[in-house]
Amino acid sequence: MNEVIQAMLTRRSVHGFRPDVPVDQKLVDQIIQAGTYAANGRGHQSAIIIEITNKALRDRLSELNRQIGGWEEGFDPFYGAPVVLLVMAEKDWPTRVYDGSLVMGNLMLAAHALGVGSCWIHRAKETFELDEGKQILSDLGVQGEYEGIGYCVLGAPAKEPGPAAPRKEHFVYYAR
Ligand SMILES: Cc1cc2nc3c(=O)[nH]c(=O)nc-3n(C[C@H](O)[C@H](O)[C@H](O)COP(=O)(O)O)c2cc1C
Repeated sequence: MNEVIQAMLTRRSVHGFRPDVPVDQKLVDQIIQAGTYAANGRGHQSAIIIEITNKALRDRLSELNRQIGGWEEGFDPFYGAPVVLLVMAEKDWPTRVYDGSLVMGNLMLAAHALGVGSCWIHRAKETFELDEGKQILSDLGVQGEYEGIGYCVLGAPAKEPGPAAPRKEHFVYYAR
């Protein structure tokens, strides 16, 4: 089978990472580069990617995510992942969600192709609507107005994810 298609069919979301195992920066760089080449509305490249390996910031974002999600104290919605790629897109660009989602797709697929575990973590939108979220962006020197699309968390899986769920019936219709 074609190796790109093979990667698409075998990628799985990882829900537990080994926090003690870093991801090789060369791999992170390749994953990010793949993200920047996603198709995007009118070629405008509305999305941005913010690499977060700073543990204090990673933990702060995880904690905001936990509070927004309503989970019990101590739960880490980033599942211990040591690397977090935050994808945002220009707030007033009409295809921002599609653009950012395709970046997320590229990131997860590239990670899998390089043997790195990944998962899309939600609630970036809510996080960066908060004053604290806005302050974090400002402190990072991010200029302009962005909407949070998602976090692509990366790391070594604590255990290999199980097989994909069977595809649902009526996923595809044909008009031949
Ligand atoms: C828009 C979106 C939001 C998601 N949010 C979360 C999340 O917050 N936490 C999580 O553990 N997984 C999240 N996921 C991962 C899904 O649970 C996962 O993709 C789905 O169960 C299918 O599994 P697979 O990716 O292994 O095929 C999200 C996926 C998408 C596309």
